[in-house]
Amino acid sequence: MESRIALSLRAKFIIPIIGIILLLGAVTTIFVHSTLTSTLTRELQERGTVISKNLAANSIDAILTDNVVELRRLIFDAKEAEKDIAYVYILDSKKDIIVHTFEDGFPKALLELHSSGDIRLLETEEGFIRSIATPVLDGKAGFVYVGISESSIREKIADITKTLFILTFIAIGAGILLAYFTVNLITKPIYVLTKGAEEIGKGNFDTRINISTEDEVAILADAFNKMIIELKKSMVRLIQSEKLASIGMLAAGVAHEINNPLTNILLSAESLLRKRTDENTLKQKLEEIISEVEHARIITRNLSEFSRQVEPEIKEMDIKEILERILGIIRIKNIRVERDIQSVILEGDPSQLQQVFLNIIINAVQAMPKGGRLSVSAGEANGFVEVSISDTGVGIPEESLGKIFDPFFTTKKVGEGTGLGLSICLGIVEKHEGEIKVNSKVGEGSTFTVRLPVDRYGKHSDS
Ligand SMILES: Nc1ncnc2c1ncn2[C@@H]1O[C@H](COP(=O)(O)OP(=O)(O)O)[C@@H](O)[C@H]1O
Ligand SMILES: [Mg+2]
Repeated sequence: MESRIALSLRAKFIIPIIGIILLLGAVTTIFVHSTLTSTLTRELQERGTVISKNLAANSIDAILTDNVVELRRLIFDAKEAEKDIAYVYILDSKKDIIVHTFEDGFPKALLELHSSGDIRLLETEEGFIRSIATPVLDGKAGFVYVGISESSIREKIADITKTLFILTFIAIGAGILLAYFTVNLITKPIYVLTKGAEEIGKGNFDTRINISTEDEVAILADAFNKMIIELKKSMVRLIQSEKLASIGMLAAGVAHEINNPLTNILLSAESLLRKRTDENTLKQKLEEIISEVEHARIITRNLSEFSRQVEPEIKEMDIKEILERILGIIRIKNIRVERDIQSVILEGDPSQLQQVFLNIIINAVQAMPKGGRLSVSAGEANGFVEVSISDTGVGIPEESLGKIFDPFFTTKKVGEGTGLGLSICLGIVEKHEGEIKVNSKVGEGSTFTVRLPVDRYGKHSDS
């Protein structure tokens, strides 16, 4: 998912950059091309005109004296002096050829080209030729014609245009690279941010987003971190209130459970008061009282164990101890408790795992308002502790099964359920790298199975 986001951001940067560079490249190329063409051809034409005029001035005498040898020397000298000159020829006043520089005879087609002393552009096999005519003594003596080739300047222009093209493509390449790095610079913190958000989505509230840049993204990350801290605080509050709610539900059972020893204590004390008793009976009654007080103390200690807000801590514990502690205070009318609990030592947070089983057991009890059977079993298999808690209650309809672990999903009345119980369970179990499975049939009951790795840190792998 992240790579898709990064790619599209990259494309958003690169496409306009390529567009701008292409546009700039095209505009520059067109501008340079047309300016060069007009400047160079004008310059070439001026050069041709100067040569032609010089030749006209220098050849007056030779034309008038019919000195063909001199004329021939003049035109070949002119042609030699300038490599862009394609040809030179001189006509007399009747427009007959006197001399020319063509090696393969004079092309007659040229004669029709100039009607007067002007400039013409011819397209030949050797490229464009600018033909310049200059009258000698206003045409009374004759005409000098100079053909000046444009191929060398056209080559020059083509070369420059090619260079411009190459430069444009280099600029595009550099632009893409630049965009790539810029985008990386921008997307990297965004990626870090997304990762952080995902972590929090998984319920990992200890996530902090570290962004080294000092820009808007860093401000966002800062706000994000503050939000996580607040979230964690309210999560802790919620968990605590859910904990208190479940303890409240235990209270009825506890009251009942404490009532029994208290009644026994009362009876024993009363009988001691009423009758004069011998040493032995007195001792026996007092022992009864002590044992009942011990019993009550265990229950209250268990209860206070639940309500304590303890810091998370990982240590070794016995799963049996935890389950027995819960079952020791949960005693509800019409509910028979069956247990098959093996002692298994595992590593984890006792207070948190106790919360897990308490939540599941309370749900089971709540699912059996008319009574039923609560079965709790625990054992070890393949390096996992497996705890199963079954009830013969109302069951969970198929369509709710996918939602029961969602925070705030509840089918219970206000005051009876917060909808947080199972989501807290799942959070804790996943933190312990375990899993929870549910099997349920409406009208028959449900089984929640919690699997937890026994040796999560590999401490006992060698024993
Ligand atoms: N043992 C069970 N039998 C039937 N339904 C259950 C059982 N455990 C959980 N549920 C369903 O899952 C829902 C969510 O449970 P939970 O997260 O503990 O929230 P709460 O108990 O506050 O409603 C319950 O409202 C109930 O509908
Ligand atoms: Mg619940």
